[in-house]
Amino acid sequence: MTEEPITDEQSAVRIRDLEVSYGTARVLHGVSIDVAPGRTVGVVGESGSGKSTLARTLVGSLRPAAGSVRIAGVDVHAVRGARRKVLRRTVQLIPQDPYSSLDPRRTIGDALAEALDPRRANVKRHRDEIVHWLETVRLPAETMAKYPHECSGGQRQRVAIARGLMLRPAVVIADEITSALDVSVQAEILDLIARLRAELGLTMLFISHNLAVVRQVSDEVVVLYHGDIVEKGPAERIYTRPEHAYTRKLLDSVPGAPGFDIEPLDDDARTELADWSAR
Ligand SMILES: Nc1ncnc2c1ncn2[C@@H]1O[C@H](COP(=O)(O)OP(=O)(O)OP(=O)(O)O)[C@@H](O)[C@H]1O
Ligand SMILES: [Mg+2]
Repeated sequence: MTEEPITDEQSAVRIRDLEVSYGTARVLHGVSIDVAPGRTVGVVGESGSGKSTLARTLVGSLRPAAGSVRIAGVDVHAVRGARRKVLRRTVQLIPQDPYSSLDPRRTIGDALAEALDPRRANVKRHRDEIVHWLETVRLPAETMAKYPHECSGGQRQRVAIARGLMLRPAVVIADEITSALDVSVQAEILDLIARLRAELGLTMLFISHNLAVVRQVSDEVVVLYHGDIVEKGPAERIYTRPEHAYTRKLLDSVPGAPGFDIEPLDDDARTELADWSAR
């Protein structure tokens, strides 16, 4: 494995030797990842490599067979009692498909009020905070009154992002949050994530099967292959000079990336290829 140190002793996320199984099938084989405060680590790998298993383990819904996860100093599999509350403040998962996690009979305002205060959800009482978070994800305040089916896929994903951020978790896990979207909407959401990283100083694990997507929002990237980390390092280096054969294979499936061979290339891709061959 190619290992470059991910800097900072003070990790917001500290994953050590994580092993996770479904029954007898081991899916993660000793995964270790650190995320420093305010940084984003991208996790990339093909379908079935264990990305969502990692995400579910980090939010505490799966228990590891071995290893540990500390988020903001909290061992997420050891907290008891007020566990739910602690976890909600500590780590939030933004899912791939917000449609299935939004109740079709409730307005966006209701959904956000509930995220803020599950026991006493009340849109009126939380109005200012809801408007603030809608504006943060660049949605108009009127979105509050809409039902999920009245929103586009991109709008629903913005709502899911707002919901994930509004409790100010120490760490955000984004699992394939753009893969269900059209390419143009995908670009908008990535742009939003990039802005929010800067504005809010997010600490994030950003998961995608697409290395080009991961590169746009990540400081460091880890490449997962069948539940093993085969390569990790700065996002730019992984994208432009992948060292592991599997990473190069992932890159080959990315349009516009070095080595991707289709006609015709647009100007951006041409420039990118020229830049790359000049290195
Ligand atoms: N609930 C489950 N029970 C049994 N096996 C599972 C379960 N969930 C996932 N798996 C298996 O674990 C492996 C990793 O799955 P996982 O969903 O973590 O992959 P992934 O990288 O998120 O894939 P994708 O890109 O398709 O979302 C796969 O072989 C999958 O079939
Ligand atoms: Mg998945």
